[in-house]
Amino acid sequence: MTGSSGKAALVEDLYALYAEPTGLFDHMVEAGGLDPATDFRDRDLRTMLFRGADLAGFDFSRSNLVGTAIRRARRVDASTKLDGALLDELDQAWLARRLDGEGRSRPAPAVLLSPVNNPFAPGAGTFPPLLAGRADIIERVEVSFQRLRQGRPVRSLILTGLRGVGKTVLLSAIQAVAERDHMIVVRLESIGERSLPGALVPPLRQTLLALSEGAPNKMDVEKALSALASIAELTSLDEELSGEISGLTTPELADDSDLYFDLSDLFSTLGDIAEKRGSGFVLIIDEMQYLADKQLAALMAALHQRSQKARPVMIVGAGLPILLGKIGSVMSYGERQFEFIHIGPLDEVATNDAVLGPLVKEGVLIEPDGLAAIYAHTEGYPYFIQEWALHSWNEAKVSPITREHVERATTAALAHLDENFFRMRFDRLTPSEMRYLRAMAELGPGPHQSQDVAGVLNSKVVGLGPVRGSLIRKGMIYSPTHGETAFTVPLFDDFIRRAMPSL
Ligand SMILES: Nc1ncnc2c1ncn2[C@@H]1O[C@H](COP(=O)(O)OP(=O)(O)O)[C@@H](O)[C@H]1O
Ligand SMILES: [Mg+2]
Repeated sequence: MTGSSGKAALVEDLYALYAEPTGLFDHMVEAGGLDPATDFRDRDLRTMLFRGADLAGFDFSRSNLVGTAIRRARRVDASTKLDGALLDELDQAWLARRLDGEGRSRPAPAVLLSPVNNPFAPGAGTFPPLLAGRADIIERVEVSFQRLRQGRPVRSLILTGLRGVGKTVLLSAIQAVAERDHMIVVRLESIGERSLPGALVPPLRQTLLALSEGAPNKMDVEKALSALASIAELTSLDEELSGEISGLTTPELADDSDLYFDLSDLFSTLGDIAEKRGSGFVLIIDEMQYLADKQLAALMAALHQRSQKARPVMIVGAGLPILLGKIGSVMSYGERQFEFIHIGPLDEVATNDAVLGPLVKEGVLIEPDGLAAIYAHTEGYPYFIQEWALHSWNEAKVSPITREHVERATTAALAHLDENFFRMRFDRLTPSEMRYLRAMAELGPGPHQSQDVAGVLNSKVVGLGPVRGSLIRKGMIYSPTHGETAFTVPLFDDFIRRAMPSL
């Protein structure tokens, strides 16, 4: 099997290599600066020294090597050479494993696919085995962090998108990059359950205390801690009040001009601290749409007041699409201060990556039909991809995963999605809110005109205003443009028709 022993043998070898559960193929392509999930089909491999073989005209289209092609392979060009010596070495190791003492081929060990070794990870905020299709966004924040370090102006970044598209895990990836780049990073949790001061104080205090240890910036840290102490007073104030007046949103009750001044102090001092360390301060906020308007306004004003402009301070936030309008309405110039990035479903190439990457790593194959079926069922929505891939794996039991396994996985995938993703918020609704959603579902995925929804319910738009309003507040629907209504969860119309077969 060595050398150029004919194309047919080589083809066989390549498939065998790819199926090898030890990841040998990965090593080989990595040695060539390629990625295992790279699309080889439209690259001219003739110039590559691939085990000394002539690959002219080799048809890779039947292989599982579909992937990110051009985008990720930018660093590969016609002059790329796989390292021959390394490949020879790998070949020897591979041969030793594949051939018994007499030179006969040993069958590759079968990988058993079970729930125990299943790599896929559906779940809110659960990091995926491979974060697909977001490399360009990560690159953008890397540039921003470099600019922060050089004291250049940087716009804050807001990721918006439906539930389940991967905003939270993208924030986690960005946080990891920020930490790697030695930024001072603070991430706010549970914005939905706490006011802004309540969410800010604990992680900031922790970060400041860590910074004060043996640092030359003791004065600054103390200044920041005192600004924080006065924010903490706001917290105890609004938490006391919220105990008394439950049901009201606490944020309106705090004094927002105090919050603004305290935040300004805090950001400016943190900016000083970061600047002296040659880094930047990065505040990460998830579920930002839950911030009360006044607190959002205080936060943005504090971030962008004049004296802050030269400071290395940046927010990276995420939220439902409604956040866009919220920021626009609390501050006329708000939208220019932030860069908004829409986070949508993955395209087919990235969907394939999300599935193939983890499979290649485990030495498991999927037939191209099966891969296509996952994309067809999930429409590229990351949460759904994890769910379908997980259940397809469990169905298959041994490699390869076929189209039939994927189809059979659909029942379990949908049951889990209904239980863990769709139904979660649905059960908290009132009967009239459910009926409104059911009427929307009757019309399809949307967005829909309010008039049309009213028509289905035989009602007037005005009369339905309060129901629509409370659904928006509960984050079930939003208004992409005036008079229109859309679901905040992808494929929600299908779910509602399953959950409520008739109106
Ligand atoms: N780029 C991606 N590639 C693969 N899986 C992803 C990707 N982004 C998210 N996921 C998966 O999708 C699910 C939802 O992600 P999450 O960040 O909670 O979404 P959101 O915050 O937008 O609701 C998780 O199971 C996660 O592992
Ligand atoms: Mg999230």
